[in-house]
Amino acid sequence: QKIIYYKEIGSTNNEAKLQAAKGAREGTIVVSEQQGTGRGRLSRGWYSPAQKGIWFSLILRPGFLPQEAPKCTLMAAVAIAKAIFTITGIEVGIKWPNDILYNGKKLVGVLTEMNAEMDRINYIVIGMGINVNVSNKEMPEEIKDIATSLSEIKGETVSRIDLLTQVLAELENLYLLIKEQGFAPILKLWKQYSVTLGQDIKVIGVNETFYGKAVDIDDFGALLVDTGEKIERVLAGDVSIRK
Ligand code: BTN
Repeated sequence: QKIIYYKEIGSTNNEAKLQAAKGAREGTIVVSEQQGTGRGRLSRGWYSPAQKGIWFSLILRPGFLPQEAPKCTLMAAVAIAKAIFTITGIEVGIKWPNDILYNGKKLVGVLTEMNAEMDRINYIVIGMGINVNVSNKEMPEEIKDIATSLSEIKGETVSRIDLLTQVLAELENLYLLIKEQGFAPILKLWKQYSVTLGQDIKVIGVNETFYGKAVDIDDFGALLVDTGEKIERVLAGDVSIRK
């Protein structure tokens, strides 16, 4: 496995996409101490201060169909949730598709981007941002109330190297598990961590907003939402839990 390390970079996802386009092998990771223009989902930014978090991107070439890409995202969320528990003992929840939360506040984000050719995924870049030692005080105003970090939860600094090592080991385990046994075992684990299933939610989709109850995840990783009239299948979008 190749690890490409930067002290500072715009976005590890951008760099990983460049590397993948140049033929980088599956398993290559791009990691940076700091990102100048870290990117989040839905064209948002991602606060990535120096030495305070784990900001990295993994290149995979699973040979999946493009519509199977969410499998990789769900796998990443499960790998991180497991690793966080192993290293810190903190029990986190996963909000569909891939936010990791603690007490409703965001701890981890995952941004998956892919390139498909001839109806198959050529490469997929899974970008992961883990707020390890980011202090709540230094967070930008927009995220202060909605984000947290492992050090805030534990009240002490958490080793980034130990956590990254564990995350990579879990990613490898789960990826091999998919190759050997298909997606069902990952889905089962994901459901155990889910804070979305069974909840009344608001879905802000690409074109429309609607309400319903999150009832299940299908074999492609899509969220099934019962609106009372029908079951909507959500492949992308933003979900919030209605209190
Ligand atoms: C989200 O909106 O929740 C996804 C955030 C993803 C952030 C990570 S940090 C490493 C990688 N590089 C980026 O520019 N973004 C992802």
